[in-house]
Formats: sequence, C-alpha cells, structure tokens
Amino acid sequence: MQLFNTKWHYGAVAVVLHWLIAVLILGLVGLGIYMVRLPDAGFDEIKIALILAHKQIGILVLMLALIRLLWRQLNPLPELAQTVPEWQQIAAVLMQLCLLGLMILQPVLGWLMSSAAGISVSFFGLFTLPDFLPHNEDQFARLRAIHDWLGLAMAGMIALHAAAALRHHYVLHDDTLQKMLGLRKRDA
Ligand code: HEM
Ligand code: HEM
Repeated sequence: MQLFNTKWHYGAVAVVLHWLIAVLILGLVGLGIYMVRLPDAGFDEIKIALILAHKQIGILVLMLALIRLLWRQLNPLPELAQTVPEWQQIAAVLMQLCLLGLMILQPVLGWLMSSAAGISVSFFGLFTLPDFLPHNEDQFARLRAIHDWLGLAMAGMIALHAAAALRHHYVLHDDTLQKMLGLRKRDA
C-alpha cells in the first residue's frame, strides 16, 4: 500500500489518520457524554480525571486533524462512487467538509472554554497551552453550551456518515468502504 493517495486510492497515511482520528473522536464523544452526567458529590476525583483525559485527547485530535488537513492539500482526493445520484455525492462531500471543520473547531472551542474557565490546558504534562481568553464565567458558560451542543451534533453526523459508508458496502456493493480500508485494488 503506497503512502500517498492516487485518483482511485486512499494512501496509508490518509487511511491511518482517518481511523485513528475516528476512534479518538468516538471515544471523546462517549467520554464527554458520560463524564458531564456524573454527579459531582462522591465522584469528584473520577470526574476531574475523566475531564482532564478528555481535554488532552481532544488536543491530540486537534494536532492530528491539522496534519490531516495538510496531507489532504498535498494529495489528490480519490473519486467518490459515481453510481449514486449527484445529490448524494454532494451530500457526502458536504458531510466530509463539515466533519473536517468540526474536528478542528470542537477542540479549539474546548481549549477556549477552558481558558475562560480559568483552567489552562496541559498536554500530557509535556507543555501547557497558552490562554487566548481571560477568565470570564459568562464567556465560559456560552462556550460550554456551544461545545456541548456541537459535540452532540457531531455524534449525529458521524452516525449518518458511517451509515452511508455501510450502505455503500452492504447494499450498493461498491468499494467506498474498502477504499478507506486500503483494500481497493483497481490501478487504472
Ligand atoms: C474533537 C474533539 C472533541 C470532541 C468531539 C468533544 C466532545 C464533547 C462532548 C460530546 C461533550 C459532552 C457534551 C454533553 O453531553 O453535553 C464534551 C464536554 C466537554 N468537553 Fe469536549 N470534545 C472535544 C475536545 C475538547 C477539548 C480539546 C477540550 C478542552 C481542552 C474539551 C473540554 C470539554 C469539557 C470541559 C467538557 C464538559 C463541559 C460541561 O461540563 O458541560 N473538549 N466534549
Ligand atoms: C465510525 C465509522 C466510520 C466509517 C465506517 C467511515 C467511513 C468512511 C469512508 C468509507 C470514507 C471514504 C469515502 C469516499 O471517499 O468515498 C470516509 C471518508 C471520510 N471520513 Fe469517515 N468513517 C467513519 C468515521 C469517521 C469519523 C468519526 C470522522 C470524523 C469526525 C470521519 C471523517 C471522514 C472524512 C473527513 C472523510 C473524507 C476523506 C478524508 O479527508 O480523509 N469519518 N469515511
């Protein structure tokens, strides 16, 4: 399997980044939904540890997503399946662009939210991210509401995106999913 994309294949770098980021984001969504619903009393330490993990993994996703965006610019984008109506091809591209945008925006919102809460974000003890917003509780509440809402919206979009991929594989029997698994063999 080659490193770079071709007009027909996703290369190894795009495939690894897609699935690594997908696993991390699905984990973050699940963890996020779980941790905010933990009661404070009696669960304080676990809740704080989970929020800390959520923040640091979120920043890791931001870094990987920036690399992915750069890689996307340096590579041709493999063609979408031409067997579906044009509106579905447009919907697929729009969904991919929304997901790409959100995997940058969502962690940036989380970072800004933490700054507004007066708690700087540390990255696995290696370094601390700068605070671009001053401590402000009203600002924190606004950013938190947007981050919470977008996190749930992202979960819905991922479900649609994954359902479409499975439909291509099991109903339409084309190679859309295989392409993203690095299994597609066509070279022409
Ligand atoms: C792609 C990355 C991220 C995703 C998909 C994500 C997703 C989520 C989700 C789904 C929730 C729970 C929402 C709810 O059920 O109401 C949440 C909560 C939270 N996230 Fe993230 N997040 C990401 C990155 C970050 C980052 C980088 C930070 C901070 C540096 C962060 C800080 C928080 C905090 C503090 C909460 C709890 C907010 C509250 O108490 O309501 N997140 N996130
Ligand atoms: C959970 C299961 C998932 C499945 C089965 C899946 C499947 C696929 C497939 C088959 C493609 C190739 C579409 C084509 O080019 O014809 C694709 C592309 C893409 N997927 Fe997913 N995906 C999943 C999760 C995610 C998640 C969680 C994200 C991000 C939040 C995501 C973002 C993208 C993006 C941005 C593309 C466009 C190609 C690229 O820039 O790498 N996917 N996905």
